Amino acid sequence: MGSPGSGKTTIAKKLALSELATIIETGELLRKESIRETQSGKKIKHYLESGDLVPTNYVVKVIDRAIAQTDGDIIIFDGFPRKSDQIEPFFKLKEKNDFLLQAVIGLKLSSTVAKKRLTGRRVCSQCGAVYNSYYNPPDKSGTCDNCNSELRHRPDDSSEHVEKRLRIYNEQTMPVFEYFKKHDPIKTFSVSAEKPKEEVFESVLQVLQKVGFDCVSNRNLPKGEGYGKQ
Ligand code: AP5
Repeated sequence: MGSPGSGKTTIAKKLALSELATIIETGELLRKESIRETQSGKKIKHYLESGDLVPTNYVVKVIDRAIAQTDGDIIIFDGFPRKSDQIEPFFKLKEKNDFLLQAVIGLKLSSTVAKKRLTGRRVCSQCGAVYNSYYNPPDKSGTCDNCNSELRHRPDDSSEHVEKRLRIYNEQTMPVFEYFKKHDPIKTFSVSAEKPKEEVFESVLQVLQKVGFDCVSNRNLPKGEGYGKQ
């Protein structure tokens, strides 16, 4: 869990480089669904582009489908559950699939840094490499260094939408983290996401070690960025 821009996907992708873990990347699943010319695809697109949370029934459907296609031993849920009415479906899916909930990790980031990370983000339309106009711009503005394709600005990464997404996070997602915190024996951890990615990643690994993921901490960890240029 964590606010928009806190690095949920960045860290999850680094962890998932191990063949042991699979990410259920809620935002990406919804973006894929939104480009399908179905009625639900069109509705989802509207929510995504306006920076609002997608209604829970659509979200649960894509998550359920994604779980069914997963064959790894470890699943990292990136961005689910994200509001109170998703807690019960989350536990139902947990029961249905006989999961053990090992840890809930909350990445903490100030809104000032989050805004810079999001408004500056540019994503390659072809290979998915991620750039940032403040921190790691491409060599040629608007063009991917890896494959020369056009870089895009996510519609929900405009300043106006980022403000809204951060507000929604505080109002709707923070209470979910608080819920997990209060419910023993769920182990919740807050990790500062202000530092460089490698350091945040190390902090997350330490948390995973605490909950018994020795396999994750002992393996040969990737030195690269996990996905594209970051
Ligand atoms: P989603 O795609 O999940 O977006 P988000 O959580 O709003 O934000 P981000 O993906 O932008 O943040 P992130 O924390 O993953 O950071 P990232 O690693 O990408 O969701 C999109 C939309 O889908 C939502 O608005 C909603 O409409 C819908 N949705 C999703 N889940 C839903 C749910 N459960 N219910 C209902 N609707 C749902 O990094 C961001 C940038 O920062 C990158 O450029 C990265 O390179 C950079 N960065 C990351 N970490 C660092 C670091 N430590 N230092 C410097 N830069 C960093």
